[in-house]
Amino acid sequence: MSAVVESRLPRNARTFRLYRSLPRLLKDPIGEIEQIGRLADGDLVRIDFGVFRAHVASHPDHVQRILRDESDNFLRDGTFWRPLHRLFGDSILGEGPDWELSRHSLQPVLTHRHLNVVADRIAGSIDQSIEKLTRTAEAGRPIDARAELGTIINTAVLKVFFGDKISDADNQRLLPAFENIATAIAFRFLLPFLPESMPVPGDRAFKKGVEEMDSVLFSVIEKYRRRPDDGTDFFSALCQTRTAEGGEVTDRWVRDNLVAMFATATETTVSALTWLWPLLDAHPEVAGRLYEEVDRVVGRDRVGPRHLPGLDYTKQVVQELLRLYPVGWLFPRRAVAPAEFDGVRVKAGDTLLISPFLTHRLKAFWPRPLEFDPERFTPGRVTAESRRHRYSYFPFGGGPHQCIGMHIFNLEAELIVAGLLSRFRPVLAGRVPETPRIGATLRPREDVELFLRAV
Ligand code: HEM
Repeated sequence: MSAVVESRLPRNARTFRLYRSLPRLLKDPIGEIEQIGRLADGDLVRIDFGVFRAHVASHPDHVQRILRDESDNFLRDGTFWRPLHRLFGDSILGEGPDWELSRHSLQPVLTHRHLNVVADRIAGSIDQSIEKLTRTAEAGRPIDARAELGTIINTAVLKVFFGDKISDADNQRLLPAFENIATAIAFRFLLPFLPESMPVPGDRAFKKGVEEMDSVLFSVIEKYRRRPDDGTDFFSALCQTRTAEGGEVTDRWVRDNLVAMFATATETTVSALTWLWPLLDAHPEVAGRLYEEVDRVVGRDRVGPRHLPGLDYTKQVVQELLRLYPVGWLFPRRAVAPAEFDGVRVKAGDTLLISPFLTHRLKAFWPRPLEFDPERFTPGRVTAESRRHRYSYFPFGGGPHQCIGMHIFNLEAELIVAGLLSRFRPVLAGRVPETPRIGATLRPREDVELFLRAV
């Protein structure tokens, strides 16, 4: 029987009492959340954690109002942001003037135009990292997909976006520190209303991870802050930013934004691409089409931006991957003034939880929602999917806080998938159940180990 308990309140104000099933929520959070999504079926529902209540909005109309049309009334702060605020401070992942200044400073580094300039460097770095896997492949040893993708993405992103200001040695410290933080934060992320004075599992690892990151980043800031630069990486863009009054920004603000960018630029992309391998294993027909496309478009060439226009099916696979596993799976908002959603009242101060994970699985918008089917994204195909609501698919959010990393993610994802498949056929080293584990992002519960067979 499901652990989710439904109250007898009228349908429009249904409440799911999660506190009654806390142990199960902690053991299988995604199962419980999926269950709520199925029962809610697009209605705004309440979930009750006992000491804390929140609304879950999954209908695309509601999502559009919250993220875009009435974004002034639904702010990105409140209880659920507390654990993340401890990490990112007042940065681009916040709200208000600090967010605005950060967005203004960082967005230009990630535009299409700017990315075109650095795309060759990103591709070169990705190709080199993939080439290094040849020795492991030849030795017949499996790779840990998550760890290797982390190295590939991290090397590409850090070089281009932090210039050469972060040394390899520092990088080797940053990556594991952040990895620890991302898992250590899971408990607080799920139960953010617990007071900080109450110790919970992961607290110590979180603190240690933050100290390690700070030690690297503050020393980089101290060393390079006053050196003039061309301003084409995140670090330079941040250091050259002026406050609204024309003053200098603080070291803390630069640090907060560097941590935010480091987290969003690597963790999301790594988690998303780790999902691909179990999915391809379970869907050989998709894998076959993907191999055919990569063989035809890239062949034995070194993968580069010139191949991207020919990789249509690869794009569809990545889109469908993010439908089933939108790694930014839950983002909360706080209502400033009362509001009403199809008869359900939301009070000022209430928390609303938005989850593309739930919306992307709504039957009314996605026929056969649990099936992995990249054909849904075939350009020009006239189906229920192609006429879909703008907010029935929003892996990158929407409105003023829409992800600024969308273009670089697509660029990296296509280059990595095509680069890997042009050299290797990955084979799962063991069966991996398609179960997510929850942290700040949605990642596979088990390690994904792959044998790489040379093409
Ligand atoms: C699979 C990859 C990614 C997914 C699914 C994803 C998803 C999201 C989502 C859902 C939001 C909106 C959060 C909200 O409204 O509260 C967001 C915001 C953001 N993302 Fe991404 N993201 C991805 C990759 C990236 C990358 C590669 C970068 C950076 C290079 C990035 C940087 C950001 C930043 C800075 C924001 C905050 C924007 C703002 O509030 O102004 N993301 N992302």
